[in-house]
Amino acid sequence: MYRPIFLVGFMGSGKSTIGRRLAECLQLRFIDTDTFIETRFRQRVVDMFAREGEEVFRRRERVVMQELMSMGDTVFATGGGLPCHLDMMELLCQAGETVYFRSSPEVLAARLELCKRTRPTIQDKSGAELLEFTQRTLELREPIYMQARHIFDIDEIDSPEAEAAFAQRLSQHPGLLVQE
Ligand code: S3P
Repeated sequence: MYRPIFLVGFMGSGKSTIGRRLAECLQLRFIDTDTFIETRFRQRVVDMFAREGEEVFRRRERVVMQELMSMGDTVFATGGGLPCHLDMMELLCQAGETVYFRSSPEVLAARLELCKRTRPTIQDKSGAELLEFTQRTLELREPIYMQARHIFDIDEIDSPEAEAAFAQRLSQHPGLLVQE
């Protein structure tokens, strides 16, 4: 059994797409925490934010993560805000291998512009507002993401081919696959 791998980072950093490919390369299970929460509570994240509010969503993230955290042989793509609330990052670092996909606010904002509809925290923002939000929020979150054991710059990973090659490279990274 291998320790779980937790991918952390801002929205749009590729945790889900690269995570799925990484899990395939390593022949491990893949869990996207947002999708898991949507299935468990039978509600889309965007609707949870609108109807219940962010705090309820954050509590659900924590409950679900505490439940899943000790699950070995799994690659987790965590929601962008998940490690940044309460003591979640500390718990993730204790439970498994944490990996931060680091990117600049400019690259993230440009990527998010193309897929902001399903994301409650940015769906109504204009291009300029999105960049400002990304800069401001990333500045607050970066010190927490930086606590990850493994850090990778993903600014250049900008195509499905580059994602596949990166996932392959990541799967061979020393110290990522750790026996429990
Ligand atoms: C959020 C990121 C989203 C999702 C929710 C809030 C955030 O996950 O959990 O919309 O606060 O950064 P992704 O990082 O998978 O988009």
